[in-house]
Amino acid sequence: MACSLKISSWKLLIVFLLASNSQHDDLYYADAKPQVPCFFIFGDSIADNGNNNNLNTTIKINYLPYGIDFPEGATGRFTNGRTPMDFLAEFMGFDHYIPPFATANGSDILEGVNYASGGAGIRNESGQFGGDRMSMNRQLENHKTTVSRIIKMLGNREQAMEYLSKCIYAVAIGGNDYFNNYFIPIIYPTNAQFTPSQYATVLNQQFSQQLKTLHKYGARKVAVYGQDMPRCTLFLKSICAFNTASCMAYMTNAITLFNDGLKPMVAGLSHSLPDANFIYINYTGIMTSIFNSQGFNKNINFPCCQVTGTGNIFPLNCNRHGYVCRNRSQYAFFDAVHPTEAVYELQTRRTYRAESPTDSYPFDIEHLAKL
Ligand SMILES: *[C@@H]1O[C@H](CO)[C@@H](O)[C@H](O)[C@H]1NC(C)=O
Ligand SMILES: *[C@@H]1O[C@H](CO)[C@@H](O)[C@H](O)[C@H]1NC(C)=O
Ligand SMILES: *[C@@H]1O[C@H](CO)[C@@H](O)[C@H](O)[C@H]1NC(C)=O
Ligand SMILES: *[C@@H]1O[C@H](CO)[C@@H](O)[C@H](O)[C@H]1NC(C)=O
Ligand SMILES: *[C@@H]1O[C@H](CO)[C@@H](O)[C@H](O)[C@H]1NC(C)=O
Repeated sequence: MACSLKISSWKLLIVFLLASNSQHDDLYYADAKPQVPCFFIFGDSIADNGNNNNLNTTIKINYLPYGIDFPEGATGRFTNGRTPMDFLAEFMGFDHYIPPFATANGSDILEGVNYASGGAGIRNESGQFGGDRMSMNRQLENHKTTVSRIIKMLGNREQAMEYLSKCIYAVAIGGNDYFNNYFIPIIYPTNAQFTPSQYATVLNQQFSQQLKTLHKYGARKVAVYGQDMPRCTLFLKSICAFNTASCMAYMTNAITLFNDGLKPMVAGLSHSLPDANFIYINYTGIMTSIFNSQGFNKNINFPCCQVTGTGNIFPLNCNRHGYVCRNRSQYAFFDAVHPTEAVYELQTRRTYRAESPTDSYPFDIEHLAKL
């Protein structure tokens, strides 16, 4: 996949190839047609591909070594190479990655937009300690803008809704409602206001409302990601004050309550909303399996890049132009929070095509795309 090409240049290339009666039928894009016409992405740093670059925030990583293995370099992706959403676009047959809302324009938006923003949460206040970010509510407002543009392009609302019903929507958000909110009681009040069980319920309800709004804007095929558990030792040491084992158990329990609510939530949405197909991605189940089977568990103590150094305001991110490991595909984590491209690729293979009945519910993204 010639992933680094922008859509517009890719279209020109197609025209050129067709006009020159090219013999290059090995080129995937000569007859490539994605399984769905469009792919819209909502989420946090797992999915962000540049939306934070022009925001006033410390959660901004458009500098090397981020992107060291990405053709365009440091674009604002929170890993060394491709994100799960980049891999998903590839697996669904797109010839390009979905552009960030911050820079997508013109007819690009017909093939999808990425609204994800590092630090963002289901709740408005999540991540505010780091600075500005596009919360899930703001991402939905941006999508509303996109939808009205698409209505103008396609001529009327009915046609736009028909078109938008064919797209895949991926929503990967909720981690910052814990790691950049509930688990930092010094800064955020939620931990004192809610028990873990109450908080999971509140989050599930807010999330459910947001997914209903997405459905109102025409979404019919929606993949909802669960949250992963903390795994990187360095991260645990930085977030846990004393006993890392009991701290980890506390966090795992709280996040599990949130994840456990998602499965019935997607089933309820699919049942109650017209023509809706919501699926649940068992993100942590897939990650645990990959870490155990691929030897990444041996490699969770240190991330690939250097994360502590002068000038690093947020000592979980890579130091600007700091040391970076060479054998990146052997590391589980690129910085103290975000997995390497190698892990993301294995993880996304299984979200796209399930390898175990517990990977996704009631079916995988490949199935969702084909509906
Ligand atoms: C950026 O955010 C910081 C902290 O919230 C604030 O002090 C500063 O004035 C902001 N800068 C701009 C240009 O808005
Ligand atoms: C729109 O996108 C094209 C191609 O991606 C780019 O060259 C152009 O600068 C963009 N325009 C704006 C206003 O962002
Ligand atoms: C959250 O932010 C949205 C705008 O993005 C706003 O409409 C809404 O009122 C806010 N909710 C709360 C509880 O502050
Ligand atoms: C997620 O996967 C794990 C491991 O396969 C499994 O134990 C767990 O029950 C699954 N969770 C859900 C909600 O299906
Ligand atoms: C990466 O390579 C270095 C040097 O060869 C080695 O010491 C290190 O253990 C390797 N790291 C991993 C995660 O395999």
